[in-house]
Amino acid sequence: MKHWFVGVALVVCASAAWAADAPQQIIDERVSGMKKMGGEIAVASKTPTAVIAQASLSSALTFAESIPARFPKGTGVGDPGVTKTRALQDIWAKPAEFKSATDALVTALKAARDAAGDKTKLDAALGNVRKSCGGCHTPFRGPETE
Ligand code: HEC
Repeated sequence: MKHWFVGVALVVCASAAWAADAPQQIIDERVSGMKKMGGEIAVASKTPTAVIAQASLSSALTFAESIPARFPKGTGVGDPGVTKTRALQDIWAKPAEFKSATDALVTALKAARDAAGDKTKLDAALGNVRKSCGGCHTPFRGPETE
């Protein structure tokens, strides 16, 4: 009887821990992070203030560097517990390509951050940033669901 009780308690604890890292929650967090990063890049492209551009791009860079960690296996289209995502399974089938698509964004963002204050250079660098977004979305992001 005592064993039965301990067993139930363990199962309850284990599922609570799992719920904290539920795949859909990880997905929702990375999608809102992606949106925020896009907003920061838009701010950098519009502001006349170098300090603001630099701060926005540094913040975008922090998210960009975290991209691979935000895509653990089991958080893609068709995975259990996933109700809404555009993350294609190729992310996990081609990890080296996914990593290099991330690196391209990180490199482009660093160049943009360093160009803040020089409008011509910054515009060119932001063009490369946007290209690197597409460089990952084209192979690894599927169509919108719903
Ligand atoms: C290394 C890959 C990669 C890079 C680089 C990348 N993204 Fe994404 N992005 C994705 C994936 C995959 C999704 C889908 C995530 C999901 O639905 O789980 C996504 C989703 C998004 C979303 C959420 C809305 C939607 O359409 O799904 C926005 C907004 C977005 N990205 C903006 C950007 C911007 C802006 C950049 C460049 C500054 C960028 N991303 C760079 C892989 C990337």
